[in-house]
Amino acid sequence: PVVGVAVPHESAALHVTGAALYTDDLVGRAPGVLHAWPVQAPHAHARVAMLRTPPALEVPGVVRVLTAADVPGINDAGIKGDEPLFPTEVMFYGHAVCWVLGETLEAARVGAERVEVEYAPLPSLLTLPEAIEAGSFQGSRLTLARGDAAAGLAGAAHRFGGEFEFGGQEHFYLETHASLAHVDEGGQVFVQSSTQHPTETQEIVAHVLGLHSHEVTVQCVRMGGGFGGKEMQPHGFAAVAALGAVLTGRPVRVRLTRTQDLTMTGKRHGFHASWEVGFDDDGHILALRATLTSDGGWSLDLSEPVLTRALCHIDNAYFVPDIEVHGRIARTNKTSQTAFRGFGGPQGMLVLEDILGRCAPVLGIDPAELRRRNFYAPGQTTPYGQPVRHAERLVAIWDVLHERAEVERRRREIDAFNAVHRDLKRALAMTPVKFGISFNLTAFNQAGALVHVYKDGSVLVNHGGTEMGQGLHTKMLQVAATALGVPLAFVRLAPTRTDKVPNTSATAASSSTDLNGGAVKDACEQIRGRLAEVAARRLSIHPDDVRFTAGKVTGIGFKDRDLTFAEVVRDAYLQRVPLFAAGFYRTEGLHWDPDRMQGEPFKYFAYGAAASEVEVDGFTGAYRFVRTDIVHDVGDSLSPLIDLGQIEGGFVQGAGWLTLEELVWDTSDGERRGRLATQAASTYKLPSFSEMPEELYVHLFEKATESGVVYGSKAVGEPPLMLAFSVREALRQAAGAFGPAGRTVELAGPATPEAVFWAVQAAREAG
Ligand code: MTE
Ligand code: HPA
Ligand code: CA
Repeated sequence: PVVGVAVPHESAALHVTGAALYTDDLVGRAPGVLHAWPVQAPHAHARVAMLRTPPALEVPGVVRVLTAADVPGINDAGIKGDEPLFPTEVMFYGHAVCWVLGETLEAARVGAERVEVEYAPLPSLLTLPEAIEAGSFQGSRLTLARGDAAAGLAGAAHRFGGEFEFGGQEHFYLETHASLAHVDEGGQVFVQSSTQHPTETQEIVAHVLGLHSHEVTVQCVRMGGGFGGKEMQPHGFAAVAALGAVLTGRPVRVRLTRTQDLTMTGKRHGFHASWEVGFDDDGHILALRATLTSDGGWSLDLSEPVLTRALCHIDNAYFVPDIEVHGRIARTNKTSQTAFRGFGGPQGMLVLEDILGRCAPVLGIDPAELRRRNFYAPGQTTPYGQPVRHAERLVAIWDVLHERAEVERRRREIDAFNAVHRDLKRALAMTPVKFGISFNLTAFNQAGALVHVYKDGSVLVNHGGTEMGQGLHTKMLQVAATALGVPLAFVRLAPTRTDKVPNTSATAASSSTDLNGGAVKDACEQIRGRLAEVAARRLSIHPDDVRFTAGKVTGIGFKDRDLTFAEVVRDAYLQRVPLFAAGFYRTEGLHWDPDRMQGEPFKYFAYGAAASEVEVDGFTGAYRFVRTDIVHDVGDSLSPLIDLGQIEGGFVQGAGWLTLEELVWDTSDGERRGRLATQAASTYKLPSFSEMPEELYVHLFEKATESGVVYGSKAVGEPPLMLAFSVREALRQAAGAFGPAGRTVELAGPATPEAVFWAVQAAREAG
């Protein structure tokens, strides 16, 4: 079998040589292409009192200005009907009010400067406290409850309460948003888009243009990263390109500059949490009551399902008998916050991890021990009523990690180090991850594939998922090669297109391998079944006794001669046996009641744990990531190199969110109120080589076959991001080591060097 083999990413050579094509690289193949530039509003909230476009048309090379009056269909780019594509009310600083098309990008840019807009400023809300105070909310309110949290808290020996507000995160995919549209014969529209959700992009383009879905085709060659930021946000840009193409009859390209991307598109939701927790004398959590408020930005986008996942993950790996969690979405005058790797899961989990980190010293229990004591035991269920299958893996993974990370020895060394260093302190923290796999909304858990076998035996695979660097296509090639019994080199993957596989779900929720892999396997097995009959006739054996391996077709007990896959295919063609098939997959056994927030929304849980050591400088709060060890459960890995890359990348991205990456908006009352101050890589600090742990060891949990999923494998895309809690908790413990033991250490989110400095100061002052 080809699954399980450590093959490189299918496009690795293209990526590193620069030969890989991304959406905007296709512009060179679109003669007569027009370039689009937005007119971005310099107000957090304002009414558009007047919009005059003729001055732009005086600029040489400007061809047209797109405004609301041009929209033949519905002037809305969202799925909730709350995102006008050409707004009359500016909802955030940088909101595009219209788009200029030019022969060159420069002409479009200069044209955009000439558009005359008068704004009537309106009051704006920027921060979560401001929005909460003003009662500015949007979408549904959610409650997840089990048992009696009030009674549980009342009876607890140890009771604590607090608040925690933490920031969001910019996706910072290397490829910014891009779309290229042109009109085909008969007014049909073809859009190339950097989108994780080609079907929804197709639907939005269709409704903006007043077309049916069968008149719009969306293709995604690949993305230079998506991370959730291209799940909903590409639709409006694709619609602008498509509208321009329809109106001018020429191809239109939208490609955001980095600063446009940073100022116009949604980010991970920041959250505010207020909480009360109760423990017994042994440190078992008895009850939790919390209210989570997410910062949704100006429109709903995916904020409701993000909040659902946050509530469904507040438990992380811990059994909380009595629990009551409320969730609500603030509306603020910021970009519309959206999906980001983990999709609310990280935010929910961070709340309880922060609580445990704060409470452990006061309870007098080692934080790692406090965590382990509260792990789910087999047979226990989550607050939403799902049994935690394979809960025993939490302890098993923890113990393997403890061993591999040499925790005992290193803790002794850290204690010795801290005893002799007054102004440098080290700490090692361990945190677990439990993450539910599947879309909460049951209907999204389906996928399709289209597999063609050509007469020469070569195979072309189409499926509904998109490639954003995560290695989905590599895994799909491995699945197809395994299911058909051919070498990997026989199989090629075609770009994702809505006219090949319709009605797809977003490539999201880490589920794309499970879903599309199931569909690809189904299609290949249909074809293999037909080929088995052809081969069986030739070999005069029963079809069940035909084997397909490595491009050879053999019969059990048949020794004379092997057939090649290509020979059997050729025979099948001559016998008029169909050599292509549509595959389909739906995840069985899921149910979810969104009103009661009860059910079994997840097919299974992904598990992992990490141990991180850090060193903090007491003078500045600057820190080093000394070493991280990870043990992570991917079931039987389909593609170990890909999985390793996903675990490393997810961890580093999580560490970035929790420690370095800080989004800053201007909250003054001045002219720039609402402006994103961190709108370039110079001010938004991403992890780079110097912020990688100096040593990073990843171990795949062994003997981990998962039943009922494609070749026993588990999803890997999102869960490792949350392994980075270990870094944050290590920073907290190192800061605490500057002061007396037994004291709560509060740490801001993100735990930037500045935030760590203040935590160190607080610890020192307590000493
Ligand atoms: N890895 C890379 N290199 N680039 C990405 O954009 N997106 C992540 C993850 N890994 C991403 C990535 C996110 S947010 C998700 S949900 C999954 O990949 C989606 O792909 P999958 O379902 O195939 O895991
Ligand atoms: N991640 C997790 N769950 C989801 C997502 C996602 O990106 N999209 C919809 N549900
Ligand atoms: Ca939103």
